[in-house]
Amino acid sequence: MAEKIVLLPGDGIGPEVTEQARRVLEAAGAREGLAFEFEEELIGGCSIDAHGTPLREEVIEKCRASRSVLLGAVGGPKWDDMPVDVRPEKGLLAIRKALGLFANLRPAQVLPALVEASALRPEIVAGVDMLVVRELTGGIYFGEPRGREGEKGDRRALNAMVYDEHEVARITRVAFEQARLRRNHVTHVHKANVLDVSQLWVEVVDEVAKDYPDVELAHQLVDSCAMLLVQEPKRFDVIVTGNLFGDILSDEAAMITGSLGMLPSASLAVGGFGLFEPVHGSAPDIAGKDLANPLAAIQSAAMLLETAFNAKAAAGAIRQAVADVLEAGHRSGDLLLPGENRETVGCERMGELVLAALA
Ligand code: IPM
Ligand code: MN
Repeated sequence: MAEKIVLLPGDGIGPEVTEQARRVLEAAGAREGLAFEFEEELIGGCSIDAHGTPLREEVIEKCRASRSVLLGAVGGPKWDDMPVDVRPEKGLLAIRKALGLFANLRPAQVLPALVEASALRPEIVAGVDMLVVRELTGGIYFGEPRGREGEKGDRRALNAMVYDEHEVARITRVAFEQARLRRNHVTHVHKANVLDVSQLWVEVVDEVAKDYPDVELAHQLVDSCAMLLVQEPKRFDVIVTGNLFGDILSDEAAMITGSLGMLPSASLAVGGFGLFEPVHGSAPDIAGKDLANPLAAIQSAAMLLETAFNAKAAAGAIRQAVADVLEAGHRSGDLLLPGENRETVGCERMGELVLAALA
């Protein structure tokens, strides 16, 4: 029986990279006897244009009735002047909330072939392998009260960073469980020297840590963590943090690996249902030009196979194929060093190369 996957390509380069990810997912899944039935839906700006809203209820229902969701990216200059409540990004936030996708896993690994592509020196980045575990359905992204008031000359705006104990405990458990599959180290990132919310996090993380005596725990202030990430990224194994800090630090972690165009992510609900998407955005400047790097989307497909179908061999095969293609010297534009003069491959060609390496 075919497994239902909802595709939400979204805006900008989203459709291009999602199409390559879909092809690779299909080919890799077939190796483990998995057949998929894809249903494509709108999210973000394209949904605003077609239906006047970034996410329709029926799309959420379709996702609920599926095995997994593969998403591209949302947003673009066309919708940039809209109020936050009706922007494309709202569709992404709404689907995370509606599907209860509280745990966002963002692995950042430096592939040997890309050591030179990092903005940092090779000896600093070689061997970096970390996982940012970001809380995704709480914190300042969703806190109430929120909004704006007053007229020009007397304007105010308000967002609230709110976490309850249970939200902190469950994301912390995810981080500790992940650490057990890796190098048994968790860094909790916070701003407890200023924020009450962070003080609660420190307390709850310490309490949960008692159930994981085999895992080492460190607490790190977010500002110094941002510094340590570029100074000594190898010291990190699993980072666990709230929604806003996780958003910022995962872009930083991504850049250490050479390009934001490489990083996949999984957003998981209680029970394991997941939405998989590249960490990068919709890159409107290169959209529709076949210039995008599909490797983050393709590696998101690997995370989907592993997480939703326990298809570890298929996921491993995708990762190996990606490494082989890069090892063979193929690069999309984002992977070039400033001034580097090398022929690049487009989005579709990169997808084909991965498919060929898989075969
Ligand atoms: C991300 C993105 C989103 C976020 C935006 C598009 C709402 O930056 O997934 O990291 O801030 O969570
Ligand atoms: Mn982000």
